[in-house]
Amino acid sequence: MPDLLAASGFPARRLRRLRRTPALRRLVAQTTLAVDDLVAPLFVADGLDAPRPVGSLPGVSQHTVDSLVVEVRRLAALGVPGVILFPLPVTGDKDATGSAALSPDGITRRAIGAVRDAVGDDLVVMADCCLDEFTDHGHCGIVDPVTGDVDNDATVELYADLAVVQASAGAHVIAPSGMMDGQVAAIRAALDSAGHAEAAVLAYAAKYASALYGPFREAADVTIAGGGNRKGYQQDPRNGREALAEVALDVAEGADMVMVKPALTYLDVVADVRALVDVPVAAYHVSGEYAMVKAAAERGWIDGPAVALEQITSVKRAGADFVLTYFAGELAEALHD
Ligand code: PBG
Repeated sequence: MPDLLAASGFPARRLRRLRRTPALRRLVAQTTLAVDDLVAPLFVADGLDAPRPVGSLPGVSQHTVDSLVVEVRRLAALGVPGVILFPLPVTGDKDATGSAALSPDGITRRAIGAVRDAVGDDLVVMADCCLDEFTDHGHCGIVDPVTGDVDNDATVELYADLAVVQASAGAHVIAPSGMMDGQVAAIRAALDSAGHAEAAVLAYAAKYASALYGPFREAADVTIAGGGNRKGYQQDPRNGREALAEVALDVAEGADMVMVKPALTYLDVVADVRALVDVPVAAYHVSGEYAMVKAAAERGWIDGPAVALEQITSVKRAGADFVLTYFAGELAEALHD
């Protein structure tokens, strides 16, 4: 190989020469990770007296509305530009349609409202628009009693209602994560006709049926009935090309930004999506990706903060404009040092 390079006229030592000092490396770095690239996912549960740590996500808690506001203020002070909120019902307050998500004085409205009151426009408040946290069967929408499948169109109608609740509570960005066909168009139309033309849509456009969501299901207290899964509506990990069709459809339906999820296992998809569209591209470094780093670091097997920085930087290198990550607070602190 070296001989071949020499024969082709490739100058010897050219690559290492630019790696010699930290300043040289900074000068030629192709990718920079900044606090501005981070969005923190946060859980807030109705009916809690105190925050409840999530065992499989060290450093992450189910918040009370009060502790949520404290955490969002802390993140805003660190310069983190966005949070994505996952409201959760009172334990056991779940039903077939996830109705607690939409209740007029429910946790959706109270949590988003409290955060907006606290931070105004200093930070972007995103709301995950889905129902699995609120359904007793744990699916992302209404289950057809005959087929046992999620009823796409009935679910999309509920998403549209939920998006309006979220926007009227003050969410700047609505992030539909249920992978129902037509969800972006329905949400965009509902927002516009309810007077929320300013609310943006971040579509979970290429979302895979991944085993890496395990710790999230503990954090959000979600169990899919009968040991079921989401393979009937989320994407098959073996497929890359259909991600581009999903993304193109969501942009055509009016998505302002698109997301690939999970992040590291799908860096090829992030790069392909980046090449396909001009809208901002996000990637979600999900709960399992975070938990693996934390668990290995706890055992002393890896340097946790260094791995976190390397992983999130690699998501940017692949082409993401910003990254949703449970490391947001920690990385923001580290990037300030
Ligand atoms: C659906 C939703 C999920 C995640 C974000 N939104 C779970 C799922 O699709 O099963 C997972 C995020 C993570 O694992 O960190 N409401």
